[in-house]
Amino acid sequence: MSADTVSKAAYIVAALLFILALAGLSRHETSRGGVVFGIAGMAIALAGTIGLAVDGGEGRHGLAATGVALLVVAMVIGAVIGLWRARIVEMTGMPELIALLHSFVGLAAVLVGWDGYYGVEAKPNGVEAQRLVVEQTLRIHHAEVFIGVFIGAVTFTGSIVAFLKLSARIKSSPLMLPGKNFLNLGSLVVFVGLTVAFVVHPSLGLLIAVTAVALALGWHLVASIGGGDMPVVVSMLNSYSGWAAAASGFLLDNNLLIVTGALVGSSGAYLSYIMCQAMNRSFISVIAGGFGIEQTAEDSTDYGEHREINAEGAAEMLKDATSVIITPGYGMAVAQAQYPVADLTKKLRERGIEVRFGIHPVAGRLPGHMNVLLAEAKVPYDIVLEMDEINDDFHDTSVVLVIGANDTVNPSAAEDPSSPIAGMPVLHVWEAQNVIVFKRSMAAGYAGVQNPLFFRDNSQMLFGDAKQRVEDIIKAL
Ligand code: TAP
Repeated sequence: MSADTVSKAAYIVAALLFILALAGLSRHETSRGGVVFGIAGMAIALAGTIGLAVDGGEGRHGLAATGVALLVVAMVIGAVIGLWRARIVEMTGMPELIALLHSFVGLAAVLVGWDGYYGVEAKPNGVEAQRLVVEQTLRIHHAEVFIGVFIGAVTFTGSIVAFLKLSARIKSSPLMLPGKNFLNLGSLVVFVGLTVAFVVHPSLGLLIAVTAVALALGWHLVASIGGGDMPVVVSMLNSYSGWAAAASGFLLDNNLLIVTGALVGSSGAYLSYIMCQAMNRSFISVIAGGFGIEQTAEDSTDYGEHREINAEGAAEMLKDATSVIITPGYGMAVAQAQYPVADLTKKLRERGIEVRFGIHPVAGRLPGHMNVLLAEAKVPYDIVLEMDEINDDFHDTSVVLVIGANDTVNPSAAEDPSSPIAGMPVLHVWEAQNVIVFKRSMAAGYAGVQNPLFFRDNSQMLFGDAKQRVEDIIKAL
């Protein structure tokens, strides 16, 4: 059997494993299996690709010994860095790590595009260019180079800005350049014009121009999006990185890269769409760099005084409760409070109190963040409910424990049309008889807006580190 046939078979198996991985990752119960399918698919894909490169395939020379050695060295360096980062990354640091990884895919697509240019367009009389002339696909190659470089460069700088914002290295507020929508639309028009020019008459100048336009556009698109919409941006960049990989697949004539890129591109786009619906944001507005969003004024409302409660008081209130809903947020992840929270849940349920969890779709810093933490602490899945499943039940609830959540329980999203998070669906915790808010201070949440919940008559603040405070309540119980 030839190396071409073996690698094609390996690619089909890998593509099927990637589809199974996506299916597995869509549910908690099957997500571990999904990861195993993904790892197996990637191992088979790598083996198929390296095997073909070493052999060369039909009518081509295989890699020389130095080429193989370089490949091995690159893989070892990549694997060591990957293992090291995966070991040390905190769950709270995942979104920025993912953003950084997307930037690598973007950069790789740019480099593949440039390599394609130097292999064909820069050598019109070379073997490769002449082969494409005979096949009558030379112009298609020009388009592949140009589009691949464009998508890759947008993904590259967009992901870097997302990384900088998510890791708080730059401010998360949106950049509001005058005429920002015109700048974005203008860049797209320039891209279309440059593409036509390149397909007709490719040149290095045009390639440099499109790279520069795309790098600036990627930077501006993500810089223009405010903190509250960053989750959608991360999944949008995931989608862009998939399309960048697919574009590279066309250039490298690699079917698996095309299939995988399309899987990542479409699943990322669909996830972004679902998240936009969950946050009541316009999908088009978000992917077009906050198109149509105006800057809102600072909130100077006087909400009055907040009330405080201590752990003993909270324990007393819980003893008298018949039903409790816990709504966790990013602060639970920071405090690593999921284990004592699971313990508290167990203790309350042993007393016959109904305990359930209400999970907002963008609680924390990445999709499914809270579900992963609660599953890690062995909280039963059947008491962990999505926002839509639990939002009508708050008014029948004795106590809500808001553990390190803020924006996702902010009533101004539902009640104040001038709020920067207006229209974002939130958990209606304020409808319960009592609300206890666990946080360290009166500081704002991720979106940087004040939360009137803290000042309501039925709310009390339990200040301190969430893990410590939950442990104090368990002691007092
Ligand atoms: P946030 O609105 O960020 O609020 C978290 C709260 O936790 C803060 O108010 C903070 O208050 C508190 N906190 C932090 N550390 C704590 C600790 N050790 N102990 C106790 N409290 C602590 O979180 P959320 O309600 O989960 O909302 C998520 C936000 O992040 C949304 O705006 C969402 O759009 C955005 N976002 C989400 C994602 C995804 S995909 N989920 C990705 C990026 C951004 P103190 O500082 O006073 O303690």
